[in-house]
Amino acid sequence: MRKKNIITAGILFCMALQGLSGCKKQDLPSQQAIYIGVTYYDQSDIFLNELLDCFKEEIREMETEDKKVNVTIQGAGGSQKTQNDQVKELIDGGCNVLCVNLVDRTDPSEIIDLARDYDIPLIFFNREPVAEDMQQWDNLYYVGADAKESGTMQGEIAADVIKKNPQIDRNKDGKIQYVVLEGEPGHQDTIIRTENAVEALKENGIELEKLSYGLANWNRAQAENRMSQMISQYQTKIELVLANNDEMALGAIDAYEKLNYTESTLPLFFGIDGTDVGLKAVRESKLDGTVYNDKEGQAEAMAKLAEALVTGEGIEEIPFENQRYLYLPYAKVLE
Ligand code: BGC
Repeated sequence: MRKKNIITAGILFCMALQGLSGCKKQDLPSQQAIYIGVTYYDQSDIFLNELLDCFKEEIREMETEDKKVNVTIQGAGGSQKTQNDQVKELIDGGCNVLCVNLVDRTDPSEIIDLARDYDIPLIFFNREPVAEDMQQWDNLYYVGADAKESGTMQGEIAADVIKKNPQIDRNKDGKIQYVVLEGEPGHQDTIIRTENAVEALKENGIELEKLSYGLANWNRAQAENRMSQMISQYQTKIELVLANNDEMALGAIDAYEKLNYTESTLPLFFGIDGTDVGLKAVRESKLDGTVYNDKEGQAEAMAKLAEALVTGEGIEEIPFENQRYLYLPYAKVLE
């Protein structure tokens, strides 16, 4: 009998605990702990690691005596199935707001269903779901940046540098022979950045000839590999390398360095992100320019939005576009 009472008390205690950490928004007084569950597509992504470091910093600054903020961050190792399981675990663990960087931006339905079932607001970031999926529930948000803007800025910087350095057109045919290093296929930043960089170069009066392109999935080593193949095919004909991010631009530079190319036979290299190593390469004049992907701004926007969604306070001050979107501006970075 006594044993039974202890078990019942145990169950009641667990239920009470669950109630405390449970995920129903209406149960949360505004000063209660904010518990943010984060999952991102791959823990080896340089830009996202820097963004999430900024996010942790934001959270530390947000905490006060009576405002406790917990955050759990998990990397999904490139598997959507793993990420779906992580979301379930984060919910079971008591999070009351989710930040998700989808592995497959076209496959968010299972995560949206889970969030809706437990009534937990969901902020997608960096990998933008397609517009129809954002309509699946009204508690979905997106924080990121406008891919078109980054491509246009990259093209404009490249055009400026080319105009100032006519010797870039080594074979003097009046055209710039270029190659592109592309991120993951299907990522909004891959196609749109490439198209708009090329468009901006042309609009700024630069005649172009595309020699080739390589898919390198945002990754430095893969880019080095693709670039080595393109160099062996085109040798010194390549005058410009447009990379969809800094890591891939650095991979291209690695390929040339390994082949001991001299300054006068190197192409121009442009990236996007302004990662720590990317900015260092610009300072050292290895990278000719980049476009700053405002990780501090995105991290701050995510933290503020997460807080507002849990506490219900301050949401009306958030400058949404289309009611659910926050796009932080890019900025040009030149030597
Ligand atoms: C960044 C890349 C990053 C990718 C991950 C892009 O916005 O520019 O560096 O790898 O997002 O989704």
